[in-house]
Amino acid sequence: MRPNEEPRAERQSSRRKDRSGESGPHKLAPLPFEEDGLEPVISRRTLAFHHGRHHKAYVEKLNAAVVGTDLEDLRLDEVILRTVDDPARSKIYNNAAQAWNHDFFWQSLKPGGGGSPPAELRKRIDASFGSLDEMEKRFAEAAIAVFGSGWAWLVSDDEQRLRVLETGNGDNPLVLGMTALLTVDVWEHAYYLDYQNRREDYVHNLIGELINYEFAAQNLRRAGSERGASSGRRESGS
Ligand SMILES: [Fe+2]
Repeated sequence: MRPNEEPRAERQSSRRKDRSGESGPHKLAPLPFEEDGLEPVISRRTLAFHHGRHHKAYVEKLNAAVVGTDLEDLRLDEVILRTVDDPARSKIYNNAAQAWNHDFFWQSLKPGGGGSPPAELRKRIDASFGSLDEMEKRFAEAAIAVFGSGWAWLVSDDEQRLRVLETGNGDNPLVLGMTALLTVDVWEHAYYLDYQNRREDYVHNLIGELINYEFAAQNLRRAGSERGASSGRRESGS
């Protein structure tokens, strides 16, 4: 055995730990609010299961699947883009996408809601949908219409127009080349304890009372500055 080499038994034990998903490159971020911070729209019990069991399980399964592979050192978004078209890696893709989607979902919500959209976002909403009410109506319709498990999104497309989209299972706007601004999780685990089969009530309450428009505005600004940086690089020929 070389001087600094880990003894075989310890190496094996650490690999076993990695396979169980207890450790690995991806971490379960804490909720950005208290577990009861979204009541009464989403109960503490639902959040405890949703974040502490479902979201955690996606992160653990992802860690267990990427350790020791060429994906181990990639960021979550890079894992998603690297595996989306590879059927042999669909399990990794599904868990990576669900881990990313849940991180994004928690940030899309805010106790008490985010108030009115900041001015630049509001201008884009009005230009794309006619009014904030119309955007929220279409966002809710999309979330209610998802067949089975999935997500509704507010996105900015290639032409910088805002749109509402539905995706099934773990799919998200990253793989469609769009910028996600907000999302609503409509997997049953997101609402069943509180609303049973009344997805419509969950969606209307969530969009009416918890949406974090400041987060959407930050995503829009970030996309704008990334676009500016990449067009600057193109113009300078680098
Ligand atoms: Fe979920």
